[in-house]
Amino acid sequence: MQVHPKFLLSAFAPAQFPTTGVPEIAFLGRSNVGKSSLLNALLGSKQAKVSSTPGRTRSINFFAIQDGPQKTTPRMLFADLPGYGYAKISKSISSEWPKFIEPYLTDRPTLSLCLCLVDSNIPPQESDMQLIEFLANANRRLVVVATKADKLSGNGRAKAEAALCKGLNVDGVLMVSSKTGAGIKDLWATIQAAAKEEE
Ligand code: GTP
Ligand code: MG
Repeated sequence: MQVHPKFLLSAFAPAQFPTTGVPEIAFLGRSNVGKSSLLNALLGSKQAKVSSTPGRTRSINFFAIQDGPQKTTPRMLFADLPGYGYAKISKSISSEWPKFIEPYLTDRPTLSLCLCLVDSNIPPQESDMQLIEFLANANRRLVVVATKADKLSGNGRAKAEAALCKGLNVDGVLMVSSKTGAGIKDLWATIQAAAKEEE
């Protein structure tokens, strides 16, 4: 899909969240899972910073996704969130997160889809499970996206997919690679369907 992305702002408090009112897609996952890389792969250009030091992002970074360069109202927003779970496994994912993330996830009226990123190369993690349960309790629509699928062979991919579905208690995961572009088209279709339903 041909889109025209534009970095909007970095928010450190709810008062700074954009008020455009269009459907929003959140990118969630542990530090280093590949959130920013996936955002860039979807947009076909380098918009979000890919970190060499994990856990650096402390803000929600908003991007406006426009159909054409001339349009003023964006079709949707992408929200790149701080990663969790890098330091040590804590009781709650939120204890490592800036205070405003949890209210963002529960209260943000325009949040249409949560992309829960998990690394396809590692077994299901407790912190990912916690996030998925949190979002399910908040009645959020979510999709589990398994990143870095390029590191796996075909057989390894099928095994990882099964293990993640079982471990995270979900019906399916979307296997993607920001490096090769595998699964990116399918992910776009999922995102557009969610955004459209919200309109
Ligand atoms: P934080 O912002 O620190 O939470 O990290 P992040 O989740 O945004 O991860 P980021 O996109 O910065 O990527 C982390 C590392 O994983 C980088 O070294 C990327 O190059 C690598 N990476 C991301 N996506 C892929 C992928 O699809 N395949 C491979 N092989 N590496 C990837
Ligand atoms: Mg990042």
